[in-house]
Amino acid sequence: MAIYFEEAKSVEAVTSRLACADPRFERIMTALVRHVHGFVKEVEPTMDEWFQAIQFLTNTGQMCDDKRQEWILLSDTLGVSMLVDSINHRRPGRATENTVLGPFHVANAPRRSMGDSICLDGKGDPCFISGQVTDEDGHPLAGALIDVWQTNDDGFYNVQQPAVQPDFNMRGIFETGPDGKYWFQTTKPLPYSIPDDGPVGVMLKKSGRHAMRPAHTHFIFERPGYERLVTHIFVRGGEYLDSDAVFGVKEELIADFTRDSDGRAWRCSFDICLKKCEGGGA
Ligand code: BEZ
Ligand code: FE
Repeated sequence: MAIYFEEAKSVEAVTSRLACADPRFERIMTALVRHVHGFVKEVEPTMDEWFQAIQFLTNTGQMCDDKRQEWILLSDTLGVSMLVDSINHRRPGRATENTVLGPFHVANAPRRSMGDSICLDGKGDPCFISGQVTDEDGHPLAGALIDVWQTNDDGFYNVQQPAVQPDFNMRGIFETGPDGKYWFQTTKPLPYSIPDDGPVGVMLKKSGRHAMRPAHTHFIFERPGYERLVTHIFVRGGEYLDSDAVFGVKEELIADFTRDSDGRAWRCSFDICLKKCEGGGA
């Protein structure tokens, strides 16, 4: 018997039409309809408010191109990226925590030798980051690839300023030797604003929120047989740690940055522990 649409039975009216070949897709669509209808029933938007919502989503899509991903920014600023990341990277043991990837990772950064600097524009306070990559039993991991990226001292990733910064400025890939140790030169990371000149910026402003991220350096650690680790190191004592626009801060990822006694350079030591893939496979 047909279910005609009525407010009280709105969810059933839609879900009863589902005939998905893929059971996972059916589960996703059923939950989506249930939650969206629940949201609308709770908020009871006026026609004008609903049109504003459609316009916001339209603007978000129209802001996207091959360099700008406003949808990811929306997911990040609503805490959804971190929720999906947390669900998919539960690490109750000693293994280092994941955090959000962000939109500024670039594949195939140049391979660099241990000790090299990733800073090609000569700006910023020199800073040496080092540590050891181990498994959960503390054994050093050789052959781990460490992909690093960071903003320059003006607070921009090189891909945001292609005509200003050198190619692959503040990026590089390092590989650990038998002792699992890594060390490289960068600049002391600074807080910066996520792009706020689009609909997400409007949403943040209207919500009384800022667009700032606390100072951090991004890392991806990869080693066959171990879970890929996408993470940051945050600067202890820095601004915005408790109000990161994308909710990426985890206590365990906050590290001490100390100044050398001659005041010329900063240092940070941060060890990394990788989790074995389930079943021990790559
Ligand atoms: C970042 O840290 O690069 C980032 C993360 C989420 C949104 C924007 C930027
Ligand atoms: Fe970042």
